[in-house]
Amino acid sequence: MTDDIFRLDGRTILVTGGANGLGRMIAEALLGAGARVLLTSRKDAETAAAELSALGPCEGVNANLATPEAAVALAEEIRARTDKLHVLINNAGRTWGAPFDSYPDKAWAPVMTVNVHTPFILARELKPLLQAAGKPDDPARILNIGSIAGRGVHGLDAYAYSASKAALHHLTREIATELAPHNIAANVIIPGWFPTDMTAFIRSDDDTHRKAIDNIPLKRFGTARDIGGTVIFLSSQASAYITGAEIALDGGVSGCR
Ligand SMILES: NC(=O)c1ccc[n+]([C@@H]2O[C@H](COP(=O)([O-])OP(=O)(O)OC[C@H]3O[C@@H](n4cnc5c(N)ncnc54)[C@H](OP(=O)(O)O)[C@@H]3O)[C@@H](O)[C@H]2O)c1
Repeated sequence: MTDDIFRLDGRTILVTGGANGLGRMIAEALLGAGARVLLTSRKDAETAAAELSALGPCEGVNANLATPEAAVALAEEIRARTDKLHVLINNAGRTWGAPFDSYPDKAWAPVMTVNVHTPFILARELKPLLQAAGKPDDPARILNIGSIAGRGVHGLDAYAYSASKAALHHLTREIATELAPHNIAANVIIPGWFPTDMTAFIRSDDDTHRKAIDNIPLKRFGTARDIGGTVIFLSSQASAYITGAEIALDGGVSGCR
């Protein structure tokens, strides 16, 4: 039983932003556990999917999720490729950092669109496919990727980003409540620091990097195995009774206080 309930064979999973960074770590883990993965990227989708196909069935879909219309079009493309979606992983995200006094108004719309509005649209538009995959004892899943920036205050000067992630955490609970009667669970993973382009500004400065690690109770950044294991669990039968949950994946930053 232990082996089987973590396997993802026969499950079709969409990972937005799955060609790079955390999304690629997620896609690799899911393929390794037996899933069919559909991934999106603004420009690297087909190349990444071809590379990842060595691990399992993987398809790339180009999508720039900068507008609501693009999210609706992506859902239409997904409907053309599958009649069941077992897991929707809203991983694509963007940030914008600037000092408070000069924080630009133009930062807000793109950050909120990619980080909050798009996950909502994909949940709404893909609900029929998720419903087709969900069962009472093994619901379909929506996994949103939040951030510790949306939970605590970390002095990142990324005001729109932090607010967008806090909004996504709450939106996840709203969606979980709405979709539970349809055999769809929704949870949010709240990562701490992982080594991707988004955190390059922390790792490129020795002092900033050391301070960031000092602040993590487990004294290290997260790894591909950390995010991969968590996503496999939350996509599998092993987590069938979990919905509306916020799963901190941050080495203790938000829990050990
Ligand atoms: N790294 C961390 O420590 C950390 C911590 C907390 C939360 N997170 C969250 O983890 C998720 C992945 O971030 P990351 O760390 O992997 O950063 P990243 O390397 O900068 O990747 C961002 C991802 O989002 C996609 N994306 C950005 N703008 C997009 C747009 N307009 N349309 C479609 N896709 C878009 C990118 O896709 P393409 O470039 O391929 O188009 C890329 O896959 C984000 O939601 C982020 O907020 C990361």
